[in-house]
Amino acid sequence: MEPNFQNKFEKDKKKRYEEFLKQYAALIEGETDETAVMANTAAALKEAFDFYWVGFYRVTSADLLTVGPFQGGVACFRIRKGKGVCGTAWQEQHTVIVPDVNAFPGHIACSMETKSEIVVPLIYNNEVRAVIDIDSDMPDNFDDTDREYLEKVADLMTAILYA
Ligand code: SME
Repeated sequence: MEPNFQNKFEKDKKKRYEEFLKQYAALIEGETDETAVMANTAAALKEAFDFYWVGFYRVTSADLLTVGPFQGGVACFRIRKGKGVCGTAWQEQHTVIVPDVNAFPGHIACSMETKSEIVVPLIYNNEVRAVIDIDSDMPDNFDDTDREYLEKVADLMTAILYA
């Protein structure tokens, strides 16, 4: 039976992520297909945390991200390196947290509902291969706890998919 990610009634975010990570590591263990792992990662994060939009943008050429598996509304297909939050996280090779998307120059609005956002790159051999993009319909919804645990998710994925 697949793990049940509906732990959203636990109030403490750290505890929720800890519980999530255990189940998540078991879920993806042994699966090496990128699309399959991204699809179930998006579904698991959506189910556990009820984020507004969760998905992946993949590096598909030297300066272009292309949308990958996601949970949520229709999203833009392509993002150039350095553009928007996703392209910035790619270019800078680190996680970007945007507490207020309207105050982020160049933010690419896929939905007017999005108020805050976190983007975490999947980096292998100093090269970004994809990014996790999570949008919230609440302002200032991401902090260092999200960064810490979503980077662990990215590390797990990277080890399974690219190493
Ligand atoms: N807001 C993102 C674009 C992708 S959508 O949010 C799904 C950005 O600025 O990169």
